[in-house]
Amino acid sequence: MQNNKNILLTGTAGFIGSNFVPYFLEKYPQYTLVNLDLLTYAGTLDNLKECEGNPRYKFIKGNICNRELVEYIFTEYDIQGVIHFAAESHVDNSIKNPGVFIETNVNGTFTLLDVAKHYWMDKPFTYKMPYQGCRFHHISTDEVYGTLSLDPNDLFTEETPYAPNSPYSASKASSDMIVRSYQETYGLNTVITNCSNNYGPKQHDEKLIPTIIRKALAGQSIPIYGDGKNIRDWLYVLDHCKGIDLVYHTGKEGNVYNIGGRNERTNLQIVDAICTILDEKVPSAKSYKELITFVEDRAGHDRRYAIDASKLENKLGWRADENFDSGIIKTIEWYLGKYKTSENN
Ligand SMILES: NC(=O)c1ccc[n+]([C@@H]2O[C@H](COP(=O)([O-])OP(=O)(O)OC[C@H]3O[C@@H](n4cnc5c(N)ncnc54)[C@H](O)[C@@H]3O)[C@@H](O)[C@H]2O)c1
Repeated sequence: MQNNKNILLTGTAGFIGSNFVPYFLEKYPQYTLVNLDLLTYAGTLDNLKECEGNPRYKFIKGNICNRELVEYIFTEYDIQGVIHFAAESHVDNSIKNPGVFIETNVNGTFTLLDVAKHYWMDKPFTYKMPYQGCRFHHISTDEVYGTLSLDPNDLFTEETPYAPNSPYSASKASSDMIVRSYQETYGLNTVITNCSNNYGPKQHDEKLIPTIIRKALAGQSIPIYGDGKNIRDWLYVLDHCKGIDLVYHTGKEGNVYNIGGRNERTNLQIVDAICTILDEKVPSAKSYKELITFVEDRAGHDRRYAIDASKLENKLGWRADENFDSGIIKTIEWYLGKYKTSENN
């Protein structure tokens, strides 16, 4: 018989969280998931529709920076674990408006950590009896490591020094450091996962892959930054969720785990692959590739990210189930459904 527990999840109306919640609810019938999300432009309850009727799913609209609210949630639901997704997450927005990134990503993470510490612990390194082992899992990004050379052997490991280049990655790096300090100073049980670029259903329209599909279907030019040769390591979102599950349950306290799919692609390869599939699935008079348009590069655009996930693979037995070729088909099918429905509305 497993213990029933209430776990606080933040930011689950966004892309990754809303893929995580249905997966986690189904896998762990002993958990009730309390979801705290501000429903910024990036979050929508449409993403969580499938969970609405589930008695083990609760949704609270609110800000992770609101200490009173976070304290109320801990007490009211007797929270025994945190998985923290909430963030401002779009690099382009962080260049235009960095302040909210510092507020949510740094101050919000601090607030959650500090409330958890007070609720679970009597003093440094001493948990209150009922809360022994309660864990704070912080979801972070590989962007904290900065950019890589084009040498394929050059990969981000958990030992790579932090060198964030955008206000987004700097705010995430700062939040990682605060998590680390709560582990080292107070003995709060924490884990951090730093993941590469995710793709899959429910991602906001502003991000690269949904933009390519949407613009192509609308017959509009498909904007690609600079020379299109920036490289990202793409991971199917459900593989990220499975990695989070594994680290939350079996990761070693105080450890950091990189998550990545060994699927490096340039932006040009991504747009080419998507247009090829769309040309087959929804042929139009001309190939969608003719819509590709190069636009002025993003300021400070990191050239290459690539993850060495061997710690997670070797120590915890994680493997990505999807490769890019299989994951991108599922993804395109989902957006075809979404954009066709919105066309009909
Ligand atoms: N998307 C990726 O490729 C990727 C890769 C690695 C790591 N991450 C990290 O994973 C996490 C989730 O990313 P995502 O892509 O799902 O982001 P997202 O932008 O799609 O969703 C973020 C969610 O957080 C909520 N939110 C924002 N500010 C809030 C606040 N102050 N209080 C409460 N809720 C708030 C939003 O309403 C939204 O629902 C982030 O921490 C991000 O840094 C993302």
